[in-house]
Amino acid sequence: MSNRPRIFSGMQPTGSGELHLGNYLGALRNWVELVDQQKYEALFAVVDSHATTVEYDPKQMPHRIFGTALSYLAAGLDPERCSVFIQSDVPEHMELAWYLGTVTAMGDLQRMTQFKEKSDQYKQNVNSGLFTYPVLMAADILVYKATVVPVGDDQVQHLELSREIARRFNARYGQVFPEPKPLLTKTPRIMGIDGKAKMSKSRGNSIDLFDDAKTVEKKLKGAFTDPAKLRLGDAGHPEICNVFTMHTALTDAALVADIDRDCRSGALGCGDCKKRLVQSLNTALDPMRERAAALRAEPARVLDVLRDGAARAREIAQATLVEVRDAMGMRAEAPPR
Ligand code: AMP
Ligand code: TRP
Repeated sequence: MSNRPRIFSGMQPTGSGELHLGNYLGALRNWVELVDQQKYEALFAVVDSHATTVEYDPKQMPHRIFGTALSYLAAGLDPERCSVFIQSDVPEHMELAWYLGTVTAMGDLQRMTQFKEKSDQYKQNVNSGLFTYPVLMAADILVYKATVVPVGDDQVQHLELSREIARRFNARYGQVFPEPKPLLTKTPRIMGIDGKAKMSKSRGNSIDLFDDAKTVEKKLKGAFTDPAKLRLGDAGHPEICNVFTMHTALTDAALVADIDRDCRSGALGCGDCKKRLVQSLNTALDPMRERAAALRAEPARVLDVLRDGAARAREIAQATLVEVRDAMGMRAEAPPR
């Protein structure tokens, strides 16, 4: 077993399962870089069990899971250097979640922003799984004793709770878990093209990773920019513009500096700025589109990766659970006579 520090992260298979630009620029891109650095042992799950907290069609779920796994690989995760697997293939996540639930305060769970938002959004189905979602997330991470968790901005609060849960467990049962820290990209929060909320599939405001060039261009044309730049020629404010944020993530630094200057002076209009972003996007997305097409044509490759990934993940997770059960005294032993 490798003794490099571990990283873990995961994404829910929502919509078609395939990911959007927010997922990529906020998290997935970091995963690829971290794996390529080879400093960590890296594990990435498609967190299907988390996705059952809202109503869904069981017939579609396998396609969604496939789509998310395919997105990971198409984005450039090298399965030779990391483990990619399905959360529900490693039942130890569930077992650990139960134990961690017993050291998690109700009050802490009630404070979670994502819980408040989702229980608002799905009023007819505020189930206890939605409530304990962050406990399962803590288990996902701690079962691998991962210390680095590359995620977007919206998961930072959940990570704080994961650390608190690790501390409470260790205080009660002895030192078992390290405290995991979030790792953010320089664009940890991408807004949707409507400019109203963060980019997400369910809000229909996303640019998807495998959108073709035409679709990307069309979507960007309608994208919301700097709200203060009403007329062509007015001074712009790139620091509050989502299109500019995407430039900082995707466009060459020298050109970003030009865009910043020309936006502020009014020399560069939003239409032209968007055209440049289309170019940067196509440069970034073309290789992913190609890899996605190749994987769709050969789905067995994705399934093989998931099978091997789960085997490796299980090995680590089982060892952790042996330690956890031992620390918690979950075994029979005759009392001394
Ligand atoms: P989800 O699709 O909610 O499972 O999110 C998967 C990962 O993508 C998490 O690390 C999120 O923080 C990240 N993410 C999702 N939406 C965005 C966004 N609009 N901007 C930046 N990161 C995001
Ligand atoms: N809650 C995360 C999200 O909605 C997904 C997730 C589940 C996750 N378990 C995780 C992320 C463990 C990082 C680590 O985006």
